[in-house]
Amino acid sequence: MSIHLNAINCFYGNHQALFDITLDCPDGETLVLLGPSGAGKSSLIRVLNLLEMPRSGQLAIAGNTFDFSHPPAEDAIRELRRNVGMVFQQYNLWPHLTVMQNLIEAPCRVLGLSKEEAIARAEKLLTRLRLKEFHSRFPLHLSGGQQQRVAIARALMMEPKILLFDEPTAALDPEITAQVVNIIHELSDTGITQVIVTHEVEFAKKTASRVVYMEQGRVVEYGDAQSFTQPQTQAFAGYLSH
Ligand SMILES: Nc1ncnc2c1ncn2[C@@H]1O[C@H](COP(=O)(O)OP(=O)(O)O)[C@@H](O)[C@H]1O
Ligand SMILES: [Mg+2]
Repeated sequence: MSIHLNAINCFYGNHQALFDITLDCPDGETLVLLGPSGAGKSSLIRVLNLLEMPRSGQLAIAGNTFDFSHPPAEDAIRELRRNVGMVFQQYNLWPHLTVMQNLIEAPCRVLGLSKEEAIARAEKLLTRLRLKEFHSRFPLHLSGGQQQRVAIARALMMEPKILLFDEPTAALDPEITAQVVNIIHELSDTGITQVIVTHEVEFAKKTASRVVYMEQGRVVEYGDAQSFTQPQTQAFAGYLSH
């Protein structure tokens, strides 16, 4: 499912975090938002499932369209979030629920799956993400990399058309980062559209089919994976070389 942003402006109070963002992500691509801290990457990815509400502009994502000249309806926001999953940097797992309970809670409550259906779906994902033996553990008894995989499994339980990741490797060591890269490649093979925020050039190079380079709330460069070897702006070339 594709994503289109047109002239998005986003504010925190008086502080403008995103300036006139216009971009496209075609169906099935893995779009990486790259840039230094404070560039607006998290703000932009949060706009994609309306965790941040832009002041103006238009968003079309997974068949849902929004024009921010008036506030979106609650049911339109719910419909959007059914189709667009998010994996947070801090994982945001429920600490008082086991891995299995973390996975089945939203599909049972939001999608109306029976407990048996949800458990069957969860078991497949836990196997696929090599987490099978951890189904009855609590999140705090897992390593950071395991928690990250649980967070990915939990997002996939909703069978999203688009999956968003904010700094998925920020707290992980290189070996675990390589596992996350593999998971992103496997997901890409299923045809899902992914958007990934990172400040790490190597991680971006390994995952991106398209890249957006941002600075100070603006898109500086947008291109395909060739942009890493042939950047069109000095700013992006500089970021790649430092
Ligand atoms: N909740 C918030 N309240 C106020 N300002 C914020 C908030 N979140 C982010 N900002 C500001 O918006 C700008 C962009 O931040 P962010 O999107 O988090 O950038 P990045 O993810 O690229 O580091 C920064 O100047 C940051 O301080
Ligand atoms: Mg961020």
